[in-house]
Amino acid sequence: MEVPGNLSQTPVPQIGEWKHPEITDLRSPCPVINSLCNHGYLPRDGRNVTADEVIKAFEEVLGLAPDLANGLTKPAFMLHLDQESAKTNSENREAAGEEEIKKEEQSWFHSFLSKLPVPTMDTQLSLGLRNAGQVNVKGEPVLNLDQLSRHGAVEHDVSLVRNDFAQGDNTSPQPHLVEELLKASSDGKIFTIADFARLRNQRLREQKQDNPQLNFGLREAILAFGEVALIMCIWGVSFSGGYDKAPYEYIKAIFKDERIPFQEGWKRRTIPLTLAELTLNSTYLQAATFIDSFRQPGQHTTVAENSTRD
Ligand code: HEM
Repeated sequence: MEVPGNLSQTPVPQIGEWKHPEITDLRSPCPVINSLCNHGYLPRDGRNVTADEVIKAFEEVLGLAPDLANGLTKPAFMLHLDQESAKTNSENREAAGEEEIKKEEQSWFHSFLSKLPVPTMDTQLSLGLRNAGQVNVKGEPVLNLDQLSRHGAVEHDVSLVRNDFAQGDNTSPQPHLVEELLKASSDGKIFTIADFARLRNQRLREQKQDNPQLNFGLREAILAFGEVALIMCIWGVSFSGGYDKAPYEYIKAIFKDERIPFQEGWKRRTIPLTLAELTLNSTYLQAATFIDSFRQPGQHTTVAENSTRD
């Protein structure tokens, strides 16, 4: 007799094969981490993911250099503390695992992070997402994907395709915002840095209007620019030495399907992406966004746009 919903009949997909997540699988607000799960490079159920698995996928699948792969991943596996009370409330520290915090504070990575010149990132624990004692059977720290939605750690307001925290679901892509993003390509074939700059300003204007509890300061802006810069550096095409144009179909695959655009012809970079190159690309994007903010909505021609289009 056929048992409805009997999953034992379902063939197990190969690693690399894209599969839509099951209803019970956990997903995050990050389209790229979700894509890596949907291809099986990270656990498809989105549970008990280790830092080593993420770093391996970043290096081997996306082409990140070890400095960047480690630098993006390790802070997320630190303990999550409530932002306000993290520094002052000893009860909170105890609840979050005083022993684990002490160990983190003694690590070289913690001391490196604490020296990073990023204003308002004044507590290095603020990027942490993990619960105290959250480890796998081997004792390795693990995260579940829904923990990436913890507001104010990495997750921030004014996402490209997701609601703000105060608007409800801050995890799932919103179809109308995905459509808005896809329309941001001014020629429908390529996304330039200027297209993303214009979209970033447009999203900020929209959220200022729609969310009275909006929280988008320097810290959030740095994260938001970094996310787009990552996309450009990984999926952008380098015609003239800079990764400043990304094919429309690649962007659509990532944001709409949460899929790595292998079938559209994307191949991993040959030169791994370092933190230095990412920072340069993010600075370029910030400058383009600044220039764009002087223009009226709908007005397109800018210095940045001209310089990013052949
Ligand atoms: C190569 C690595 C990565 C890439 C290319 C990437 C890309 C992106 C992009 C483009 C977004 C913006 C989505 C939107 O605005 O709607 C995003 C959001 C996010 N990413 Fe990633 N990401 C990467 C690594 C990570 C890592 C290591 C974490 C750590 C846990 C992370 C956590 C998040 C979170 C929480 C958001 C939501 C931010 C928001 O509220 O908009 N990502 N990511």
